[in-house]
Amino acid sequence: GTPNQFDQAADSDYAQAAARQAAEKAMATVRQQLGQTYWPIIAGEALETETVIDSENPAQPSEIVGRVGQITVEQAEQAIAAAREAFPNWRRTPATERAACLRRAADLLAERRAELCAWMVLEVGKVLREADGEVSEAIDFCRYYANEMERLDQGVNYDISGENNRYRYFPRGIVVVISPWNFPLAIATGMTVAALVTGNCTLLKPAETSSVIAAKLAEILVEAGIPKGVFQFVPGKGSTVGAHLVGHPDVHMIAFTGSRQVGCQIYADAAQLKPGQKHLKRVVAEMGGKNAIIVDQSADLDQAVAGVVQSAFGYSGQKCSACSRVIVLNQVYDNFVARLTEATKSLNVGLAEDSGVKVGPVIDGKARDRIYEYIEKGRQEATVAVSQPVPEEGYFVGPTVFVDVAPDATIAQEEIFGPVLAVIKADSFDQAIAIANGTDYALTGGLYSRTPSHIDRAQADFEVGNLYINRGCTGAIVARQPFGGFKLSGVGSKAGGPDYLQQFLEPRAVTENV
Ligand code: NAD
Ligand code: ALA
Repeated sequence: GTPNQFDQAADSDYAQAAARQAAEKAMATVRQQLGQTYWPIIAGEALETETVIDSENPAQPSEIVGRVGQITVEQAEQAIAAAREAFPNWRRTPATERAACLRRAADLLAERRAELCAWMVLEVGKVLREADGEVSEAIDFCRYYANEMERLDQGVNYDISGENNRYRYFPRGIVVVISPWNFPLAIATGMTVAALVTGNCTLLKPAETSSVIAAKLAEILVEAGIPKGVFQFVPGKGSTVGAHLVGHPDVHMIAFTGSRQVGCQIYADAAQLKPGQKHLKRVVAEMGGKNAIIVDQSADLDQAVAGVVQSAFGYSGQKCSACSRVIVLNQVYDNFVARLTEATKSLNVGLAEDSGVKVGPVIDGKARDRIYEYIEKGRQEATVAVSQPVPEEGYFVGPTVFVDVAPDATIAQEEIFGPVLAVIKADSFDQAIAIANGTDYALTGGLYSRTPSHIDRAQADFEVGNLYINRGCTGAIVARQPFGGFKLSGVGSKAGGPDYLQQFLEPRAVTENV
């Protein structure tokens, strides 16, 4: 069926001088505010902590973007106790009131758009245009889930003569949200507001490297009127505080987005029934990808090259949706590789804040070293076609293209999460589909083709959660391309889609004999 119409927020138009000036002004203001300390919010209070981490600008690591207090396991216990206490009231708060909080949060995000973009540019090295898209996505999550909750709150009536049958949704209880750094605003917002609007008390544990942006989101949610103890901001170390919250017997659900390794660990840990625990936990785990775009002999190669380059190297390839394999039919292979190589060489690498830069830094030194290890491995497995020089200061990796990569090579199988693209040759379209499906993942995929039978075949057999035909494979939009994968890309229903909120709810059926 056709879903309700939903109006997505518009991105900034940087062709307009006003938008560029707003961005410059916000950047100057934010630079004045660097180095401040942000504390966790527990039971409505800013709570000082013993440990504080520095969040650095990955392009200029000597620049401290902010300092963020890290809670201890004891403070995590305090937060759980506050959530337990706040739950009875929040659960009884009408869905329309909860939805109104999300709509206020959306308005605040919109008001602070330019400032939030500047924080993202500086804290995680995302170029302005992509940071701006993230603010739109965060706004959309708030407004869409507000609408969705009001829809679900109607429930379903299956009445017959003499018998009323009511199907209604109820909150689960306490939800722990564990978010990644690569979409530091949009994904943290999406999971958190979904948990809140469905009536759950929610603890947000952000990724360490993006905790200043998460602190800004926390400010916004408090200002939007989410009550004390209902929303709590609990920055802390994943392996200690995160793991403790996951295993806590009072937690009902974990909404996680991040790596496969951590997601699988959380799934297993959450399955353990603890003494005193009276329920099994629900886990939503959105994990990685090894996404492929197929280019067949009928493709518009200009379009294909542009789409592959943007999908592979946008945000330095640090998107779960990024294209990391391109599978090219042999008839167009040499032509495609030549054009891809030229287009990749023309990408400017540098500070995310400089206009004209397409590829900024990677998130931190550990990520850079890990990506370089994969590049070394790739040199043993295949041929380097492009390798770009990078600035000396900061955590940079130049866009790198390997050609003639075997489908089972390490660089064609493992998620690298950096600007590294493997080009693989296929002898037939059947083989291209088999190669595309030949990994553990099923997140996004793409096809450039003007052959209807190939397009049909891809729709039927390409194993991905989000398939894009004749366009790039990143940049899903809320309520237009509900987003998420299967196989080892994750468990759970699609973010920004019509089944997402049900995961945070417990349905009950009531039959009344009348
Ligand atoms: P990560 O798994 O290293 O960290 C994610 C979060 O988990 C962080 O908040 C971290 O502190 C926490 N954590 C770490 N160990 C934990 C533990 N033992 N218990 C509980 N929490 C723990 O991932 P990342 O580096 O932040 O993000 C990158 C990964 O996320 C990539 O694999 C990417 O593909 C994936 N991702 C997936 C999607 C999607 O929608 N499928 C979207 C964005 C990112
Ligand atoms: N939702 C993000 C995208 O589609 C991950 O790129």
